[in-house]
Amino acid sequence: MLITAGPTHEPIDAVRYIANRSSGRVGIALADAAARRGDQVTLLLGPTPRTPDDPRVKVRRFQTTAELEALLPLHFPNCDTLIMAAAVADYRPKQVPAGTKLRRTESPLTIDLEPTPDLLAGVARTKRPDQRVIGFALEPQDRLIASAKDKLERKHLDAVVANPLETMDATGIRATLLFRDGRTVETAREIDKSVFAGWLLDALKAG
Ligand code: CTP
Repeated sequence: MLITAGPTHEPIDAVRYIANRSSGRVGIALADAAARRGDQVTLLLGPTPRTPDDPRVKVRRFQTTAELEALLPLHFPNCDTLIMAAAVADYRPKQVPAGTKLRRTESPLTIDLEPTPDLLAGVARTKRPDQRVIGFALEPQDRLIASAKDKLERKHLDAVVANPLETMDATGIRATLLFRDGRTVETAREIDKSVFAGWLLDALKAG
């Protein structure tokens, strides 16, 4: 099992970065739960102070989208299932001045951003028939299911976990799991992220 978790940090200069509010909790809980069930787990973990409890989880760290992009092809061929829970940046600063710090001036500052590659879509394109790729969709409640279905198709996923925006950085989670064949399974209510990890692994096994 290959799991990604946590935010990315995209450097602006030598000391500043653009990040997001992901804590990595869900991906780390999934890695712990899978290891406890006897799976061999590799966790690609972004910049978060949290770490898995289970010493059997093999952890590889990344900071940026580019670093995660480099790790995925090294680990994906060895897994049956990839669960892409990392909150990967959609944009990053285009030009990063090497080794220096931007100086404060009295003028407004504009930072040019470029889109990052869609890592999940890229890795799903290389998957073998014996591999499954699961993505996450974090969206406002009103377009949650429609967007999740769109991501399932567009990124060629086997299943997608749809979460409302409030999930980010919270202790609880409410989720709908959508499979490629149109089946959906829901958590009955908001549940703790460690309980959710077991729920998702069970639902994927049954699917
Ligand atoms: N993802 C990725 N690479 C990116 C952005 C997102 O691999 N550059 C992955 C995330 O890990 C997640 C899934 O894509 O599993 C959905 O992420 P999300 O941010 O909800 O969707 P986006 O693909 O960014 O689409 P949009 O911003 O249009 O909703």
